[in-house]
Amino acid sequence: MRLLILGANGFIGNSLVRAILERTDWQVVGMDRSRDKLEHSLGHDRFAFVNGDIVENRDWVDAQIARADVVLPLVAIATPMAYVREPLEVFELTFEENLRIVKECARAGKRLVFPSSSEVYGMCADEPFDEQTSRMVLGPIHKQRWIYACSKQLLDRVIWALGRHEGLDFTLIRPFNWIGPKLDDPQTAKEGSSRVVTQFIDNLVRGEAIKLVDGGRQRRCLTYIDDGIECLMRVLDNPGGRASGRIFNIGNPANDISMRELADRLCKLFRSHPEHRGARPRIVEVPAEAHYGADYEDILVRTPAIEAAAELLGWRPRVGLDEALARTLEAYLAALAPVAP
Ligand code: UGA
Repeated sequence: MRLLILGANGFIGNSLVRAILERTDWQVVGMDRSRDKLEHSLGHDRFAFVNGDIVENRDWVDAQIARADVVLPLVAIATPMAYVREPLEVFELTFEENLRIVKECARAGKRLVFPSSSEVYGMCADEPFDEQTSRMVLGPIHKQRWIYACSKQLLDRVIWALGRHEGLDFTLIRPFNWIGPKLDDPQTAKEGSSRVVTQFIDNLVRGEAIKLVDGGRQRRCLTYIDDGIECLMRVLDNPGGRASGRIFNIGNPANDISMRELADRLCKLFRSHPEHRGARPRIVEVPAEAHYGADYEDILVRTPAIEAAAELLGWRPRVGLDEALARTLEAYLAALAPVAP
């Protein structure tokens, strides 16, 4: 099998490339603007990597779609701060560019495994969110936070329609707050615009106060990257075509935690690290408007139903919260440690 992975250097992309090369005989072609997270796989004889931007290399992308069996377009802007600060960039890359690729897959008759998002459920009142029955509840237009959710939702609908009417072989996956090594670039955390686990760890490392938006009662189900990748591998393997034409939430409902508890746990873990025993972490509360601006709106509860992945793919998440947070923190601190001469 030959896979095309766009955004191969991302948090999901780099882990997926590594798992594919270690566990299968599949060929992978990847593109990304950077390569720093792929050091484990560059040079492998089944991995062809091109350093480049998918927007500037459309002809190359289309030529590779023509040669691939399965296409994974993982390129997107996936941080809430960007949704409110750069909504048009989010739309252009996340929606417009991916729509082009999705249509090209349909035209060329290629299987598409597309990353939808837990964001598409928005402020849905269900607990848990179900792929088949849950309503998707987004806020008013001036709350620009929803431009990403809306972009992903419309792509889901287009992909579904292409499956129904034009025979596109697809699977939609919905990651729920995956965490782990290489989640976000530390530089992004410095700007206050990475996802919450990286942000809190980075605050701790810099001796800054952790900022709990609106008091931190929002809950998320943190899913360890290895569990997510295991499910994604089963989707790609697609035994008996069981993943085709389906949508899968990929998350860990057992790892449900409020942002306040998350901050407390990370503080404890940080202080138990040999190099940071003397640290005195601080936690402060900030109004959402002060942190993100007026265009933000939050999601208070986000729990995935995972029966579809369990029943059709035999998948269950295994990594608990303590281990997931410890491994993520450890990897972040190790990446900061000076390299021995
Ligand atoms: C994320 C992002 O949209 C995407 O990464 C992705 O599509 C999706 O969820 C997912 O991974 O499932 P969200 O969970 O809201 O959305 O993003 P985070 O930035 O990780 O924030 C989580 C919570 O922590 C929010 O309630 C936020 O207000 C809070 N937060 C964030 C703080 O309290 N303090 C901070 O410094 C940062």
